[in-house]
Amino acid sequence: MNKSKRLEKIPPYLFVKIEEKKAELIKSGVDVIDFGIGDPDLPTPSRIFKKMRDVLETKEAGNYPSTKGELSFRQAVANWYKKRFNVNLDPADEVCSLIGSKEGLAHLSLAFIDQGDIALVPDPSYPVYKIATTLAGGEVFDLPLTARNNFLPELDKVPEAVLKKAKVLYVNYPNNPTGAVADLTFFAGAVAFAKEHNLLLVSDLAYSEMGYAGYKPPSLLEVPGAKEVAIEFHSLSKTYNMTGWRIGMAVGNPEAVQALATIKSNVDSGVFKAIQFAAIEALSADRQCVASNNAVFEERGKILVKGLNSLGWKMADLKATFYAWVPVPKGESSASFTEKLLDKCGILVVPGSGYGPSGEGYVRFAITLPKERIEAAIDRLAKAQIRF
Ligand SMILES: Cc1ncc(COP(=O)(O)O)c(C=O)c1O
Repeated sequence: MNKSKRLEKIPPYLFVKIEEKKAELIKSGVDVIDFGIGDPDLPTPSRIFKKMRDVLETKEAGNYPSTKGELSFRQAVANWYKKRFNVNLDPADEVCSLIGSKEGLAHLSLAFIDQGDIALVPDPSYPVYKIATTLAGGEVFDLPLTARNNFLPELDKVPEAVLKKAKVLYVNYPNNPTGAVADLTFFAGAVAFAKEHNLLLVSDLAYSEMGYAGYKPPSLLEVPGAKEVAIEFHSLSKTYNMTGWRIGMAVGNPEAVQALATIKSNVDSGVFKAIQFAAIEALSADRQCVASNNAVFEERGKILVKGLNSLGWKMADLKATFYAWVPVPKGESSASFTEKLLDKCGILVVPGSGYGPSGEGYVRFAITLPKERIEAAIDRLAKAQIRF
């Protein structure tokens, strides 16, 4: 079988390997405490299920959807952006439904990256930005996110020669995997940079609803004039515990949204309409479920941070997301520490190096498991004398 050269350039998806390893351990009798993939363990609110059940057997729900989504879904997204961020969106051409934001982020590259074009990609980052750039024939220029720069890219350090070939700049705040946040001043700088260098600015806002201690993450589109250069991706996955439902949206610059819709209309046929109707219900109702989710994750984050700090770490409480970006002890690498946690404690984390070279020296804990399991993990670390 002669596979494409393209396929050789991409690794197996990070979590495929991790899930395989987990399955092996469980099979051999290990009680694995899983801080791996960021898949909320909390339930999807019942009113969303109810809406889905109500529409499921209607004829309309089962017909081909339109690529961009039902107008009623796009209107609900626009209303939500207005209410949540005070951002105006025209549902006609500034909103597109997605089969989860991963799908949209992946397809966007096909609309903007040609052979040899460069994408400026945070390092570490959610793997899809890099993989999609590579699949489209482009090259990646890493923007290191480190503790020294507060996990914000230093755009003024990108060489002129790179900028000449660069077409796209990705930002993702609140950030996966570091949990870092950005304010509107940073976003305004990114918008100005994108305008100066003629870049499409891609904002991945998957975690906008997960802020703690009163922190409410902003949208990049709140920056005046951002819509001239920016497209933003959001998803119902984390906000409403709907990862498996596969629904998200791309919003912002109409030319960029339409370009993405053109790719999508040729490769997929939109989101199952019953899911769109359920998503309208999710976006339109009160935000009580968001607040109660956040209360759970905030408490879990505190338990993890307090536990790690009792073992020598010096971590601050999580400000956003459900990820703790934990430095590895001296003498360990991301990979060796991940292996040690698994072998000695049955604790599954993700090696930071899996998110890019600057992730070396860290592991990521996703707190998508009950607090009792987090406490048990801290006990196991203490018993195994694993300290920072
Ligand atoms: C930063 C970031 N963006 C996008 C996604 C994709 O989410 P979904 O495809 O479920 O909308 C994820 C999922 O983990 C993520 O961490």
